[in-house]
Amino acid sequence: MTLHKRSSTLSIAIRNAYLSPLSKFPGSKLAAATFWYETYFDVFKGHQYIWQIQKMHEQYGPIIRTNPHDIHINDPDFFDDLYLRRLDKWRWWTRGFSVPTSAGMTVEETVHRKRRGAMNPFFSRASIETQTPTIREKAARMCARLAELQGTGAVLDLESIYLALTTDVLTQCSYGYSYNYLDNPDFAMKWKLVNTAGRQSAAIVRSFPLIGRVVRSLPMSLALRLVPPVGFIKSWMADVRSQVQRIKADPSLSEKLSDNKKRKETIFQQILASDLPETELSEDRLVDEGTLIATAGSETTAWAMTIISYHLIRNPNVLTKLRRELTSVMLKETEIPSWTVLEKLPYLNAVIKEGLRMAGGMLSRLPRVTDEEIVYKWWTIPAGTPVAMTPHLVLINSDIFPAPREFRPERWLENPGLERYMVAFGKGSRNCIGMQLAYAQLYTAVAVMHRRFELELFETGDGDVRPFRDLFTAGVRVDSKGIRVRILLEAGEKRI
Ligand code: HEM
Repeated sequence: MTLHKRSSTLSIAIRNAYLSPLSKFPGSKLAAATFWYETYFDVFKGHQYIWQIQKMHEQYGPIIRTNPHDIHINDPDFFDDLYLRRLDKWRWWTRGFSVPTSAGMTVEETVHRKRRGAMNPFFSRASIETQTPTIREKAARMCARLAELQGTGAVLDLESIYLALTTDVLTQCSYGYSYNYLDNPDFAMKWKLVNTAGRQSAAIVRSFPLIGRVVRSLPMSLALRLVPPVGFIKSWMADVRSQVQRIKADPSLSEKLSDNKKRKETIFQQILASDLPETELSEDRLVDEGTLIATAGSETTAWAMTIISYHLIRNPNVLTKLRRELTSVMLKETEIPSWTVLEKLPYLNAVIKEGLRMAGGMLSRLPRVTDEEIVYKWWTIPAGTPVAMTPHLVLINSDIFPAPREFRPERWLENPGLERYMVAFGKGSRNCIGMQLAYAQLYTAVAVMHRRFELELFETGDGDVRPFRDLFTAGVRVDSKGIRVRILLEAGEKRI
């Protein structure tokens, strides 16, 4: 670096830290001076910035600067205040995800509203109720596979089983064609690895966007060899593209889109039947949308199921109480009741909420931008400043959830006021569009799994489930071998 370049970098850092309109806000001057601070923790230390942000809050208070441009607030009572506004996303933050025209990564709130509006009818509560036969059919398939493995001593990756379930449901809902991962010998193991690698790449590409652009322009085989995480996502997107092409080439498509019913059978039919202009229905944009839906909708739900099962196995008292309740609506262990029946069970309800909390929600901070000032306590944040909160830090806040690392479903029954702090799905107009679909699957999967099967953990402990890396959603320790189980023949069966 020349002397001139070095002194200009230094003067930008000094300006960022001391002379910017944000310099009155508390926090580390180093974090405020340069993006390299965040890059150091997220890229070089392995997705650890969330914990540094937590530490900085302990030192400087509930509002801090986290990089030269943005502000972070750690105050569960401010979550609704921030997110129930009309907000843009922050372009710098969305660039890590390589799907810029998906609704979820659309920057402008006005454009987002149209893109999301096109999908809304499919994701309404009433519409998801019509998808429950698919969910029950896939849950039955999962049980049939598990029954074959019962008592064999086979060690199974639990997340991969649930991921096969959620991906089979989601691909059926998206394309009207299921990937049938539940029939794979190792369930969705490959997709689990692709998905984890893809989530790892976001922070790398955000810090070094050129890597993303170069890898995307490389032939697939080279991309996979040079930067596997980005290459994996590239290969997944190629697969989504062939699905989109198949749907668009379907000779009966116009017939499927032309009926008067507002709600269509699949997510893509729903988008194609909307009044979005032709440019919004291009193959490239639909690939972005399909990629985001597949990644946002499958792993999140599967991870929550996995965490719930882990804690049920670890807490036999909770499991016994849950089973007693489940038996009241599932007299036969092979029965699969509907979601509407299951969601009326109070203890199951509490177990699912506690599981969603402990699964971690988003570990990534979720920055938003508005052209109005945001007032937090005695601080006025200038219009146009990206302001973020981190759902995970709300979900583990010990003032709201005492002993936050303990699985205690009872807390939701004892204190219904906690509902306000259930931020796993975000809040406001940019919250999770798939929340009802996630709930329908969670109730069904947890009920069928734990009414019928006796699971035993295999060389798995708290270190394998505790959110440790910010991979947007939860990432566990790099050396974790996953949450592994064996399916016993009956309760109390001895280890093989
Ligand atoms: C336990 C499961 C799930 C959790 C915890 C979860 C969480 C979230 C959160 C927090 C957001 C907001 C992210 C942001 O602000 O940037 C989000 C957005 C989104 N989720 Fe989920 N999600 C889950 C399941 C699903 C499912 C089943 C789908 C099915 C399609 C889905 C599709 C989406 C989409 C498309 C968005 C972007 C929405 C928009 O920006 O309008 N999610 N999710």
